[in-house]
Amino acid sequence: MNKNISRLKDLPTLPVILQRLFNVLQDEQSTFVDIANVIRHDQTLTEKILRVSNSPYFGHAGKVNTLEQAIMFLGYDLVKGICLGTSVFKLLGRGEREKLGKLWQHSYEVGIIAANISDHVCNIERGICFVSGLLHDIGRVIFLTLDRERYLSILSTDETIQKEREIFGTDHPAAGGSFLENALLPEEIVCAVRYHHTPSQCTRYRETSSIIALAEALSRSFFPKIEDDGAWSDEHDAIVLELSLDEGKMKDIRENSKEESSSMKELFTV
Ligand SMILES: [Fe+2]
Ligand SMILES: [Fe+2]
Repeated sequence: MNKNISRLKDLPTLPVILQRLFNVLQDEQSTFVDIANVIRHDQTLTEKILRVSNSPYFGHAGKVNTLEQAIMFLGYDLVKGICLGTSVFKLLGRGEREKLGKLWQHSYEVGIIAANISDHVCNIERGICFVSGLLHDIGRVIFLTLDRERYLSILSTDETIQKEREIFGTDHPAAGGSFLENALLPEEIVCAVRYHHTPSQCTRYRETSSIIALAEALSRSFFPKIEDDGAWSDEHDAIVLELSLDEGKMKDIRENSKEESSSMKELFTV
């Protein structure tokens, strides 16, 4: 299966932009100027990055005019995350994307919730949590591109993870983690994605993966939809205690996330 995932790079339908992006992301010497040069070739992506960086949510309303500035303001990781997320999602056909738009919506909602949780946890970066949330289910999009019909039939069942292993020989957290590792995203994001259904198995960056796991479970009650995953379990209760999230903090997280999600909707539509 891992072979299949790395083969994704060679799929004939792969947009040129994603191929170029992979090359530049895999080159450790590349700078934000190189990334800007790749993004510039894709007008939709360029507009998206500029729109995101000028949004009040990211705090630079109306101040960002160029891609270089955007990358500087938003940070390398967030820009890479947005590019990877939207480009991978675009591998699905237009009709498919419309049908599965809620999966992308679920992804940025988890990003928003994770960022809000991180505000109550010491030494955890908000941006890292947002990107990890945005990309947490990228493995599901990969499965959709590999075997659409079969994956659609298990997308909304509670045994999704088990069924993924039966069909693909791996599950979406593992597939997503390997994919992001190949794209040279920071280890913290890779771990958070890889362990977002099993945070207790994460040895490094345990808190970040716990935050994503909790955000995914909370998204089910804040923004219920059939595309969400991650049913609430004892593990989530333990995370709430571990992170000392009392009732007041949980209320803050819920209210801020709900408010922010409506302003983000337009920004992240694919
Ligand atoms: Fe998930
Ligand atoms: Fe999810």
